Amino acid sequence: MNNRKIGVLASGFGSNLQAIMDAIAQKGLPIEIAVVICDKGDAYALERAKNAGISHVAIVRKECLDKNDFENKIDTVLRAADVELVVLAGFMRILSSGFVSKWKHKNINIHPALLPAFTGLDAQGQALEYGVKVAGCTVHFVDEGMDTGPIILQKAVPVLDDDTHDTLAGRILVQEHLALPEAIELWASDKIEVHGRKVYITK
Ligand code: GRF
Repeated sequence: MNNRKIGVLASGFGSNLQAIMDAIAQKGLPIEIAVVICDKGDAYALERAKNAGISHVAIVRKECLDKNDFENKIDTVLRAADVELVVLAGFMRILSSGFVSKWKHKNINIHPALLPAFTGLDAQGQALEYGVKVAGCTVHFVDEGMDTGPIILQKAVPVLDDDTHDTLAGRILVQEHLALPEAIELWASDKIEVHGRKVYITK
């Protein structure tokens, strides 16, 4: 069976990208990271891809004419690589409704909170400040909103009384590194069904 091809978009350190790479290797998943695209030329995620011999490219927003040009360049690279699923793995930009609609139900994101709580930036800090007792992460399909698409899976962690931003973010990140590969494996096995807002995992 041919490997299912994914394209990973990242902006920084790329630990979620690394988790996907590791899961594919360790579990022998029939998945290929066809390309890694970063919006920053110095994103360590590019180094990770290079070290793994994975095709990679920086598409830097400020070097593009406008947002439309930026997203068209990304879309062109994804399609040239025959990508079937776009994975936002620590990708810090909001994609336009035009791009999102082209990849409807073929674009997933990892967010470090139990959505719909704490959308947007520094979700971990928002959770800590709010005083929640349970935090976690969410893998969801990307829709026109910010962190509002149908939820594929979530993983929860306790918030401890002496947690700092870093200790909580670190505990959530461990679960992110499990959740994102798990969701991608479910997708590759055609076990994800979407009905409106609801996602069902079929056996
Ligand atoms: C992660 O918490 C991710 O959820 C958020 O950015 C953090 C770093 O991700 N979007 P990575 O190490 O670049 O994958």
